[in-house]
Amino acid sequence: MKANRRIVIILLAVVFLPALFFSVYEIGSLNQNEVIIDDIYNKQLEVILSSVNSHSQDWASSWAMKMNGYFAYPQTDLGASLLQFVEDNPSVKGVFYTRDTSYQNLEIISLPEASSISSSVHHRTIEMVLRQNSKKINKLYLYLKGGYRKIEAFSSDRTPDISYFVFVADSYRGHKILCGMIVDAKEFVNFVLSPKIQALVENQFIITVQNDTKGQIIYASETSDLKRISQTKPLWLLPDYKMGIIYKSKTIKELVKERTTLNFIIIFLLDTLLVAGVWLVLRNFKAEIKLSQMRVDFISNVSHELRTPLALMSLHIETILLGRVKGEKLNEYYKVIHQETNRLTTIVNKILNFSKLEEKKFEYHFQKMCINEVIQEVLEQYYFYLQNTNFETEINLSAEKALIYGDKEALKEVFINLIDNATKYSKDQKYLHIETEIEKDLIKVTIQDKGIGIPESDQKYIFDKFFRVTNGEMQGVRGSGLGLSIVKNILDNHDAVIYLNSKPGQGTTFNLEFPGYAIQLLKKRKIRKHA
Ligand SMILES: Nc1ncnc2c1ncn2[C@@H]1O[C@H](COP(=O)(O)OP(=O)(O)OP(=O)(O)O)[C@@H](O)[C@H]1O
Ligand SMILES: [Mg+2]
Repeated sequence: MKANRRIVIILLAVVFLPALFFSVYEIGSLNQNEVIIDDIYNKQLEVILSSVNSHSQDWASSWAMKMNGYFAYPQTDLGASLLQFVEDNPSVKGVFYTRDTSYQNLEIISLPEASSISSSVHHRTIEMVLRQNSKKINKLYLYLKGGYRKIEAFSSDRTPDISYFVFVADSYRGHKILCGMIVDAKEFVNFVLSPKIQALVENQFIITVQNDTKGQIIYASETSDLKRISQTKPLWLLPDYKMGIIYKSKTIKELVKERTTLNFIIIFLLDTLLVAGVWLVLRNFKAEIKLSQMRVDFISNVSHELRTPLALMSLHIETILLGRVKGEKLNEYYKVIHQETNRLTTIVNKILNFSKLEEKKFEYHFQKMCINEVIQEVLEQYYFYLQNTNFETEINLSAEKALIYGDKEALKEVFINLIDNATKYSKDQKYLHIETEIEKDLIKVTIQDKGIGIPESDQKYIFDKFFRVTNGEMQGVRGSGLGLSIVKNILDNHDAVIYLNSKPGQGTTFNLEFPGYAIQLLKKRKIRKHA
């Protein structure tokens, strides 16, 4: 028991507690992980959206560079070049420029049929837009002084779907010219941004572009469930629009939840495995400890069983040798010595049989035999004992021969042990009932006593080697705990089964079932044939 407790404590300290702490810590940090993972997913989306913005910026810059070239090199026909530029870029509906810082004298170059909005509308609108954003525009001059040609994008309620890209160009005389492009937002998205977006989504995401105020989606890399948009970002160059992004298969929340659930399941499975492992180890240890305890008891029991007859014999022999015992008494002394020799032989034989059976070295000599005859032979051995100890016996053997295919000596051992137990473990009610019956192909044997019985909790162990019940009733009854394990082993080799039915204080019944001779023979033949 002490060793058991020690093992439990060691297992708890070394395996269970650290695992428990780890699990609690992991479960605790799952929430935290959820936030981190959520953050990672969001950052990933943000990077993708940013790269769309950079792409549009690069594109607009390259346009600005081109336009700047027309202003910087006057040998080209400015109007024609700008018109060509507009023609070459379908999303650019026109360009404008002014040398005047009050935004008067605005020149607009556009293809007449290209826009639904007339050039006069653009004229007024652009003037107004420039005036409204004069502060930002002034900064564009400053940026250019610093060597950076920044592009600002403006929009106006009057011209929906149009974005005005404004920048400052250098003219060949060193003058600065305020320039701009009239860009159709939808076409810019479809012609300029779409290839980049398609390259970015890689079958994993859906990117959308929608009108910021109306919420109307003007572009989607794929048309599917667009309601789940989890991240949006303004489009730098299209002030009225914003981009949206979603994971194609699941939302971030679903992805994070899935990961968390998976982690939770893994922790749970690991813990279950661990508990099962600890439980198995404990169970094995318990069984081992029980067995080793039983071995210790066995040695002490057997030594006692050997020492008692030896001591008795030596006492009687010494007395005879002293010449003190004569006549009738001498015979009695010889009888005791003979009895004790038999007892010793029985014990030694039992141990030898047990070890042979354990090592599978026991040699069986199977033959056709009547089980009733074996029982009768054993009962003859017990006849005097049963009579002297006032045992009420009820023997009911089948009228017909109970034929089986068995080893006579081994089966004798079985019945000796069962009868020995019935007599050994009976106190006030000395009763022995043996019955055999033939039922179809089965030979049934019942051995019943009205002795002390076996406690319910011990019943599953009584066929285990070395096992002995250790309650008060058993006090003074000696034994090695080998009898029933020998019985079980021999019966197994006869394909027979044994059932126990016992109630403490009321008695014990053992029911044995042997396959009849005919069926057993058939089986053995089949086995031989297959071999
Ligand atoms: N008929 C019975 N009535 C009550 N208890 C029994 C009976 N038969 C067996 N037992 C219990 O089962 C235990 C195991 O029996 P088993 O015959 O294997 O060992 P044993 O009788 O103690 O020793 P031995 O090796 O000398 O037979 C016994 O110690 C006893 O507690
Ligand atoms: Mg016994």
